[in-house]
Amino acid sequence: AIEQKSKSDYLHDCLEKAQKYFVQQLKQSPQAIDYLKGRGLSGEIAKKFGLGWSGTERQGLKSVFENYDDPNLVEAGLVIQNEDLRKYDRFRERVTFPIYNTRGKIIGFGGRIIGNGQPKYLNSPETPIFHKGSELYGLFENRSTINKEGFVLVVEGYMDVVSLAQLGLANAVATLGTATSEEHIKKLMRVTHKIVFSFDGDKAGRRAAWKALTISLPLLRDDIAIRFLFLPEEHDPDTYIREFGQAQFREQIEQSLSLSGFLISELQHQFNLNEIEGRTAGLHEIRPLLVSIPESSMMRLQIEKEIAKVLLLTHDELKHDLQQYQHNQS
Ligand code: CTP
Ligand code: MN
Ligand code: MN
Ligand code: MN
Ligand code: MN
Repeated sequence: AIEQKSKSDYLHDCLEKAQKYFVQQLKQSPQAIDYLKGRGLSGEIAKKFGLGWSGTERQGLKSVFENYDDPNLVEAGLVIQNEDLRKYDRFRERVTFPIYNTRGKIIGFGGRIIGNGQPKYLNSPETPIFHKGSELYGLFENRSTINKEGFVLVVEGYMDVVSLAQLGLANAVATLGTATSEEHIKKLMRVTHKIVFSFDGDKAGRRAAWKALTISLPLLRDDIAIRFLFLPEEHDPDTYIREFGQAQFREQIEQSLSLSGFLISELQHQFNLNEIEGRTAGLHEIRPLLVSIPESSMMRLQIEKEIAKVLLLTHDELKHDLQQYQHNQS
């Protein structure tokens, strides 16, 4: 019997065909090759991550697909249909980053413009097989190294993942231009017990780290370690490792903040804990976070004790306050 292909299989096939084309196009584009070389990437790493080049033509994919009008190409996110019904390739004049699911199937692409156009990055849209909020770039490619290293680095960008791998840290993954989600963390906890968030050293990066922290708290387990690495203001992981090298990046990982370290540093940053008012306001801020940690965990107990100390409370006093707070919530 002929096996019926599912819709998803069909979309994967379309993306796979486009991927072959992009890789072929890269080989023929000195401009794109120079761009990647200029960012410190070798041919070997480009191959490992399947980097490609979309070509410059409006309908370049016509040479790949017999029927460019196949609605599946639009559904796969490869082709865009205008209001006047004209169609064109989504990715043009962009370096392409194929995004794989954990089973090694392509589910979408990221594309970086190599000149000064906008937007800098373009991603596949949400499709039946691509859900940005739960996928992680690099997880498939780097999975075995994540195992070997015993930890995963979570970064912001495609380039961070690839550049870190180029320079000896092939254990990073990136969220796809979205905030860290519960699904991201659950996925990571299935492959490793240690997660190091390393976002850009700017305000947005700091905010992204805080968001990651709040998402992580309810998922904490005693066998999971979560840490936060803050790079100097002007750097992201790519620029940092290229300037200072692998050894110094690993040094930064060693010195990264623990989860409670980050919590306390934010408290100290936001409030004057030398004053009663500051400690009270800090307690107000941190209550909902503390009660979101699974109650029975040793982790919760340890974090409570550390927080109690900086708020000049005994652990019993803090515990009592949290019970009161939870009671009033329900
Ligand atoms: N991003 C996006 N759309 C944009 C800008 C960024 O989707 N217009 C996403 C991309 O996934 C990108 C990530 O956010 O990789 C981080 O953005 P940014 O720090 O600006 O990207 P870098 O990877 O540092 O870019 P560059 O190639 O310049 O190093
Ligand atoms: Mn496990
Ligand atoms: Mn940034
Ligand atoms: Mn960058
Ligand atoms: Mn960046």
